[in-house]
Amino acid sequence: MLGAALLSTFHLLALAVGLPGVVMRGRALRRLATDPSAVDDVLFADNLWGLAALAWIGTGLARMLGDFEKGPGFYLSSDSFLVKLGLLGVAMTLELWPMVTFIRWRVKKAKGQPLDTSKARALATVNSVEVGLTVAIPFVASMMARGIGFTWFA
Ligand code: HEM
Repeated sequence: MLGAALLSTFHLLALAVGLPGVVMRGRALRRLATDPSAVDDVLFADNLWGLAALAWIGTGLARMLGDFEKGPGFYLSSDSFLVKLGLLGVAMTLELWPMVTFIRWRVKKAKGQPLDTSKARALATVNSVEVGLTVAIPFVASMMARGIGFTWFA
């Protein structure tokens, strides 16, 4: 039981770190258009977002596949769970561009080279969609945890 409680705690704490992280990343990206020093805030917020993603996926898979919650059979037959993973799949696909971009920024920054931040506004738009998905997933997760499904799947 303690294992289940710890996994649940870190799964929820990931939300307390990830949602502020992705919101702050978006704000810093918008500031970047007029304030080049905002790049440090973008990368700091991106670290929080990345940490949360690792925690969500690690604890989530353990809770789904392990003997901690309702077992894989329950989740794999739950359309809410499939919708949840679908939303997460969209978020992870959208995240590919920002993730690669910020890795490049870190490498260039470490070498003291100038950064191309001309795409900051477009990255901020992608970031806003990710904020929306991060807010939507807990709604579906709470339905999933209580066995509530989407009638259209019945
Ligand atoms: C690979 C990714 C993920 C997997 C496999 C996963 C799996 C799970 C599982 C098995 C539970 C326990 C449900 C129960 O009590 O029966 C859970 C709960 C929850 N998950 Fe995830 N999760 C993932 C990602 C996420 C993400 C990205 C978020 C938020 C953005 C999230 C938010 C939640 C919340 C809020 C709960 C608690 C629901 C409640 O008890 O009311 N999960 N998740």
